[in-house]
Amino acid sequence: MSVKVEYHKYDVVVLGAGGAGLNAAQVASQYVSTAVISEVYPTRSHTISAQGGISAALGNLEEDHWIWHMYDTVKGSDYLADQDACEYMTKLAPQYIIELEHIGVPFSRTAEGKIAQRPFGGHTAEFGKRPVKRACYAADRTGHVMLQTLFEKAVAQKTQFFSEFYALELLTNEGAVNGVLCWDIKNGGFHIFHAKAVVFATGGCCRIFKTNSNAHINTGDGLALALRKGFSWSDAEFIQFHPTGIYLAGNLITEGVRGEGGILLNAQGERFMERYAPTIKDLAPRDIVSRSMVKEVLAGRGVGPNKDHVLLKIDHIGAEAIHEKLPGIHELALVFAGVDCTKEPIPVMPTAHYQNGGIPTNYLTNVIRAVGPNPEEPVPGFFAAGEIASASVHGANRLGTNSLLDLVVFGRTAGEQSAKYAKENNFVPLAENAGQEGIALLQKFLNSNGKNTFGPMYKTLTECMEKYVGVFRTEETMTTAKGILADLKKQLDDYRVNDKSSIYNLELIEALELNNMVLVAQALTEAALMRKESRGGHAREDYPERDDANFHKHTEVTLDGDGNIKIDYRPVRMKPLTVETFPPKPRVY
Ligand code: FUM
Repeated sequence: MSVKVEYHKYDVVVLGAGGAGLNAAQVASQYVSTAVISEVYPTRSHTISAQGGISAALGNLEEDHWIWHMYDTVKGSDYLADQDACEYMTKLAPQYIIELEHIGVPFSRTAEGKIAQRPFGGHTAEFGKRPVKRACYAADRTGHVMLQTLFEKAVAQKTQFFSEFYALELLTNEGAVNGVLCWDIKNGGFHIFHAKAVVFATGGCCRIFKTNSNAHINTGDGLALALRKGFSWSDAEFIQFHPTGIYLAGNLITEGVRGEGGILLNAQGERFMERYAPTIKDLAPRDIVSRSMVKEVLAGRGVGPNKDHVLLKIDHIGAEAIHEKLPGIHELALVFAGVDCTKEPIPVMPTAHYQNGGIPTNYLTNVIRAVGPNPEEPVPGFFAAGEIASASVHGANRLGTNSLLDLVVFGRTAGEQSAKYAKENNFVPLAENAGQEGIALLQKFLNSNGKNTFGPMYKTLTECMEKYVGVFRTEETMTTAKGILADLKKQLDDYRVNDKSSIYNLELIEALELNNMVLVAQALTEAALMRKESRGGHAREDYPERDDANFHKHTEVTLDGDGNIKIDYRPVRMKPLTVETFPPKPRVY
């Protein structure tokens, strides 16, 4: 294959077309030339599957305040979130939700015509006193309607779209980020997008777990690209396991089900969350509910012939309410669990759902160095938003519905900030060897004729992560995982791609994704091994207590010059923008 490269030049290039990418793009396009590059057609991005809602203290049904929302976010994060970013996000939330409404997002309505709101896990009134209705929703298809609307808006703003392009290398020169090398999946061929500013909005990595709620594209590609260029992955060990994945399938059953009155039951028919979180019960934060479910199963109170799952009961709210407010989950339960949830409970178990950490940014979405003498120093030309980024508002555990809010607030901010940066700065010239690493990587896999192939390796990887680095972890299980992952890395040197064509070669894309997933899984496991405490989504049986004295800090994973994983730490930003901080306290619900 000849190495012809096609060149493009835009002020701002956004990688990823989910909610964060589209919101960044529709804003940046209003000021400067902007392109969006996406592995899939934009409306197939993973935001489409967000179900239950987007949080904002609108107070449409009962009293609410952004400071209560901020408190819940900080406490929900097990105090690992940066408090300036939490204040920024929760304070802007009401205004940005109204803006979404004005650009056409069809929210469900109250009887008086206001945006409807429902309770969600960990969202409370008066600093933890009782659950509060804070999640704005469109039935159980909130992400779907948001994504469609943001796409329409971006198209109207004349954003240029490059769909079915796969990113191979982040380009840097003179200390700045200045573009991306991509492969055109549909037609074959390399493309370099030269930019003044690059916005990463590539989504998460939960496909590295066997049971997950994620789209096929969520393979951590953005993380791998950033790591290979020396940038950090913050708080890599904190994966969110959503409590209600459909048993054996992993598909999400929205927490909105519990927001509408659904309850979790064990084999004895007991509403067991009353024991684990007496105040907010089934609406405790996800890390707590997921661990409680696993504990019930381990205690022999699981349901079914293998006693290996629990039940989510919702039929008591009535078929009419289910069809009106939760039509999507009714269908999902029918298709993937074979149950009609208007009549019978849904079998559920935790499913890997969200990457709580990400590429570290400040609250204005500038990617920061995170390691070295000036950890808070921004990287010129590099911005990130959405699940790939860590501002950090989720810390060790994200609250439900704060993901859609994160991508709206920080996506918009990334659009504003990248456009401003592009207006104030010139193009940094491309390095002489720009894109050579990415081209070599693709050619290595395309020409590979070894013995290992995607299927068995992907199975080993995802089973290993689920079994050894899942809801509960120990030094022993993670050391086992480390060995398996090192072996998978070696196997990549003896790999085989059978399809040698350059047109729509999905076997090639799978190989590149697998290469990224192995790196991401190794980075996550190393970070988890080093954090010898339990906090949020990181539950170590050998270190069951939170240890603020030694671990109230962000983990920063980077690669050294030889590609070895390095672990550093960075202080949590405890200083908010205007209000009092919420210091670490015991986390009782
Ligand atoms: O349960 C859900 O609807 C998921 C929402 C979220 O992850 O924020």
